[in-house]
Amino acid sequence: MRQSSLVVVANRLPIDDNAPPDGVCEWRRSPGGLVGALHDILAHTPATWVGWAGGAGPAPELPDIGRLRIHAVGLSEAELADYYEGFANSTLWPLYHDAVEQPVFDRSWWEAYQQANRRFADAAAEVAEPGAAVWVQDYHLQLVPAMLRERRPDLLIGFFLHVPFPPPELFMQLPRRTELLRGMLGADLVGFQRAQGAHNLAQLARRLLGAKATDRAIELDGRTVRTGAFPVSIDVAEMQSLAARPDVVRRARQIRADLGQPRHVLLSVDRLDYTKGIEHRLTAYSELLRDGDVKAPDTVLVQVAVPSRERVGHYRLLRDRIEREVGRINGEYGRVGGPAIHYLNQRFDRAELAALYLAADVLVVTPLRDGMNLVAKEYVAARTDGDGALVLSEFAGAAVELDEAFLVNPHDLDDLKATLLAAMDASAAERSARMAAMRRQVTRHDIRAFTRAYLRSLDDSGALAASVTG
Ligand code: F6P
Repeated sequence: MRQSSLVVVANRLPIDDNAPPDGVCEWRRSPGGLVGALHDILAHTPATWVGWAGGAGPAPELPDIGRLRIHAVGLSEAELADYYEGFANSTLWPLYHDAVEQPVFDRSWWEAYQQANRRFADAAAEVAEPGAAVWVQDYHLQLVPAMLRERRPDLLIGFFLHVPFPPPELFMQLPRRTELLRGMLGADLVGFQRAQGAHNLAQLARRLLGAKATDRAIELDGRTVRTGAFPVSIDVAEMQSLAARPDVVRRARQIRADLGQPRHVLLSVDRLDYTKGIEHRLTAYSELLRDGDVKAPDTVLVQVAVPSRERVGHYRLLRDRIEREVGRINGEYGRVGGPAIHYLNQRFDRAELAALYLAADVLVVTPLRDGMNLVAKEYVAARTDGDGALVLSEFAGAAVELDEAFLVNPHDLDDLKATLLAAMDASAAERSARMAAMRRQVTRHDIRAFTRAYLRSLDDSGALAASVTG
């Protein structure tokens, strides 16, 4: 077994097999921010990525990506149902997102969650060279840090949570709360998107474990676990160069022409997830149409809803509701050849996304709760022309950094409607001042800065960060 000095452990590999069950294998960049951006950086590093390749069954053998080795972990059909769709995405996901959907506490899922976490921990222990750093990602693998420490006390272990870490009132509902907490505290450094996450963890560590804890460090079992906020970001250079490609610029023009040269193009790009606030957005837009504040096809909304977790009940029901509502709105307010909403339940490649960003006057990002939201940052990175307006939920982690966006409370429909209108009506000077400020922030704090900051904090000698980001 080849071993590495840096191992990333994430539920997903940076590529996954998205072919239909009986189709030929089709490897594509995985959905989601982290895996998209991070693997490009790691492609220049002798690191190993441990993760699931999508689909059920034994782990496939996968080729390296540049210098990055890919080590797949297999999950059975039952593990997928109970670990990934069950405990991770029907218990932890809704609970960590303010319980905007009711979390399901099914006792039979816990065993599968532990078993899958053991599998990832075993794989990481196998591929990590002596004294290596292992960087564990996200809520799927919350038990891995402690499991890994037990197997390999020589390792430097980092854990980073991409989603919000909830306040004690919510976390305390979890039947396995103490084990989950102890699991993540097996790390040397626990990172969150926002400072609030570290604050919540300290409160929980005091209450559940009797630990001595501040927002920066937790003393447990004679060890110190450091904590902190590290807002994740995107590969700004990649998005900028896509947006500068002549074929992408042409495609953006074509999109506007295909939409009928509207005065205002509103765009939303989300995984089809109940945390993203798609229904609230549709209601607000439909009321604007009803009240005559906007008219189709003079104004259009392009809603990209990327298919996600489609076997989970909440997601299936949500898709039905959204598609019914889009049909209703188009039925009422569209005209022949001119719908009010262009709804796309598809995955797009990066160039097409960049073209959509260039074509949009307003990007509408209104999640009810979101760890970060990298679509907002991608839009800002793509707008090298300095134009475009961003409507951004206060409940997205990105709102901390992008406070020059048109910030909105998506639960408040009147605020949502007024903010959409304000963004559409903003003068060119206002749009460009806001965009310039956001571009400065995103450019300074890209995925390399995020990776460097996290790894420097994990290994304060700086050697680890230098080996990855140069
Ligand atoms: O942002 C949270 C997250 O779970 C990421 O870890 C992942 O890349 C993304 O959402 C997509 O979710 P999934 O891996 O379930 O398709």
